Amino acid sequence: MSEIAIQIQDLTKVYKTNRVKAVDSLDLEINKGEIFGLLGPNGAGKTTLIRVIVGLLKSSSGHILFDGEELNINSAKWKHHIGYVPQETAFWKNLTVYENLNLIGTTYNIPNKELKERINHLLEGLYLVDHKKKLASKLSGGMQRRLNLAMGMVHDPQILLLDEVFVGLDPQTRNYLYDYLRDFASKENKTIIITSHLMEIVDALSDRVGILDLGKMLAVDTPENLKNTHGKGDILELEINKEFNEDLVAKVQKSEKDLVVEKKDQIILVKTLNAISKIPEILNSIENEGFTVLDVKITKQSLETVFISLTGKELRGD
Ligand SMILES: Nc1ncnc2c1ncn2[C@@H]1O[C@H](COP(=O)(O)OP(=O)(O)OP(=O)(O)O)[C@@H](O)[C@H]1O
Ligand SMILES: [Mg+2]
Repeated sequence: MSEIAIQIQDLTKVYKTNRVKAVDSLDLEINKGEIFGLLGPNGAGKTTLIRVIVGLLKSSSGHILFDGEELNINSAKWKHHIGYVPQETAFWKNLTVYENLNLIGTTYNIPNKELKERINHLLEGLYLVDHKKKLASKLSGGMQRRLNLAMGMVHDPQILLLDEVFVGLDPQTRNYLYDYLRDFASKENKTIIITSHLMEIVDALSDRVGILDLGKMLAVDTPENLKNTHGKGDILELEINKEFNEDLVAKVQKSEKDLVVEKKDQIILVKTLNAISKIPEILNSIENEGFTVLDVKITKQSLETVFISLTGKELRGD
């Protein structure tokens, strides 16, 4: 069996109503056991891409292969293998939390005992046990999102597609979900695709990240590689205890590889990749010259800076 879970080939989706090309000639391979983060600003095409993969939208052209086979959304295999949690919550309002999970579970023909166990496990994990008898319509927004998550995972799918599921969750649930997804992908060799415009989450959770803008994939790599290739580096600001001149700047420059060092009043500015690992040598070089560093400020590069360098615009904001 191939180690590639999903292969997307030259995929394009044009919405007929407004001629918007939401996905534009996209090629992408997603591996088994991988958490793949789709990062992009509002309107980038993330939801459209997910909905085409899931089969809820028809592509205009191109192919999607699942385990080497062409997509057939009517097949039982597809249905059982795919879990989808949409950006907009969707459930039966007049059923309780438990009834929603049970009903969706029965559509997958999961044996009763197993279904019960899975539901209880998800209710516990997503802190919904105390709310299981509540009508879905009476839940808070965050609880509704958690119910939606549980509904997408109840059949224990092989591939899980999560569209902006971290939005509106409290930190406790975010942390739980974070651990749950990591476990799910690594232990069981399952594949997760998450979309988000929250770069911190995508950065921390994803094995690889695809940066999407205007329907095009601008870069695909590990967060680390993206930052090293496209990022502009971390910035260190070192406040020095007394007047200094360019000699000190030159010493700092020599203390480690690949530093860009500047003097700015009482501060030495250092621009470099992976600055934290270089701090000890930099500090030594300053102290060896008889100076003291009063304060160190570090601005870490992020996927945001990668995005800006790729597109020339900011990730946040509509
Ligand atoms: N049903 C639709 N009909 C027509 N155009 C659409 C439709 N849905 C989305 N679009 C357009 O397609 C483009 C991509 O939208 P999409 O919802 O896929 O973006 P997104 O990356 O998920 O954004 P967000 O971060 O806001 O969720 C946008 O220009 C949007 O206006
Ligand atoms: Mg979206």
